[in-house]
Amino acid sequence: MAAGSRVSSGRDLNSVPDIGESLGAVGRQGFDFLCMPIFNPRFKREFSQSPAKDRPGALTRSDLLLSGRDWNTLIVGKLSPWIQADSQDEQIRKNSEEALVQELNFAAYLGVPAFLIPLQQSNNSNLARMLLNHLLTGHHSTVFWIRVPLMALEDMREDIVENDPVLRSEDCIEDEKTWLWWHHFRSLCDYNKRIALALDVGADLPSDSVIDRWLGEPIKAAVLPTSIFLTNKKGFPVLSKMHQNLIYRLFKLEVQFVITGSNRHSQKEFRSYLQYLEYLNQHRPPPNAYETFAKGYEDYLQCPLQPLMDNLESQTYEIFEKDPIKYAQYQQAVYKCLLDRVPEGEKETNVQVLMVLGAGRGPLVNASLRAARQADRKITVYAIEKNLNAVVTLQNWRYEEWGDQVTVVPCDMREWEAPVRADIIVSELLGSFGDNELSPECLDGAQRFLK
Ligand SMILES: C[S@@+](CC[C@H](N)C(=O)[O-])C[C@H]1O[C@@H](n2cnc3c(N)ncnc32)[C@H](O)[C@@H]1O
Repeated sequence: MAAGSRVSSGRDLNSVPDIGESLGAVGRQGFDFLCMPIFNPRFKREFSQSPAKDRPGALTRSDLLLSGRDWNTLIVGKLSPWIQADSQDEQIRKNSEEALVQELNFAAYLGVPAFLIPLQQSNNSNLARMLLNHLLTGHHSTVFWIRVPLMALEDMREDIVENDPVLRSEDCIEDEKTWLWWHHFRSLCDYNKRIALALDVGADLPSDSVIDRWLGEPIKAAVLPTSIFLTNKKGFPVLSKMHQNLIYRLFKLEVQFVITGSNRHSQKEFRSYLQYLEYLNQHRPPPNAYETFAKGYEDYLQCPLQPLMDNLESQTYEIFEKDPIKYAQYQQAVYKCLLDRVPEGEKETNVQVLMVLGAGRGPLVNASLRAARQADRKITVYAIEKNLNAVVTLQNWRYEEWGDQVTVVPCDMREWEAPVRADIIVSELLGSFGDNELSPECLDGAQRFLK
């Protein structure tokens, strides 16, 4: 959800007697979709014991009540709350397993885009096993929104630690426990991309560091109960400052919001919850330089570049050069280094030799020249680059801007015989992932260039 675009939102209902009517009402309130149980939440099916298991009649309402397109775009299904696939009680567990399969299959049949499954305890291994099996064997594209509380409720907490040897041994702090539920569940599901998170936001929020950790997860939805809204002087629902900050950060992740619970601001229409989110969206703080730079690359695992083996493309250099921090810091470092090496009295006579090893399209050359002007010291620069395409850019810079102060050397630094020794080497080979630019292989060998 980019700044300026509208909030995507849904309304969560536990009881939907007339699906067409509810969908219409929710749409008129301004919501984009409806979260609803696909089986009557109180209809506990019985799979082993007669006569209940032979109960005649349809298990749930017909798919014909909505068009395929509506099921596919307007409905998020919810798992029946009584299903406990990890119950200690074998009878409950077996029955839950059957019901779980039934609901997962029916959700696939309806073609709902997302299906909400709650995590309510630390051990969810059987649920994970069954869901992964469903994901790997069925032909459907439903995304599973795993609904996890941002913080465990008071009565859940002791149970979590006592019943979970992992949590007991991990000495985790109180407010990161539900993150561990999710983390274990997700790893048991083999980090399947269709397992996403629906974060249940309660009145209490965990510490900032735990929130940071949550925000690194694949959050697709945030569930906001009406009970966490406060009331402003005019009687409208509003959120606390802490909650507002969380919402601003969730906006950046483009999550969808689900409002759950009854209207607690009965003087106002239900849509006022959504209008408040829209208001926050319109007034969200503008992105900082880093966020603007990183836009579009959030939470993407990227193939590490191999700039030694491959020649980078112009566009790749262009992205490097948008970095708002790196070149300013390099300039600052060269500035300080020049002041350190050349005393004021020698500033007219002492010309420092500076080599940029792996110059690309020249941003570190420019940063070094700026640093020299800033420090009022003299430098002569060698720009060494093995990518002959980027060398074209360097040579154009030299012709149009730099002049004789810069020598462009189209060469692999491992093979170059430098005509002079350097006072300063500037380079940034290291890589985004480990040492994928082979910096030791290249730069270690380049130490011989130094005076
Ligand atoms: C990560 S890029 C950085 C380029 C530039 N400093 C920038 O900020 O845009 C590293 C550059 O080093 C060059 N390079 C890598 N190994 C090299 C080597 N052995 N000799 C010369 N250039 C090399 C690559 O071609 C690439 O242009």
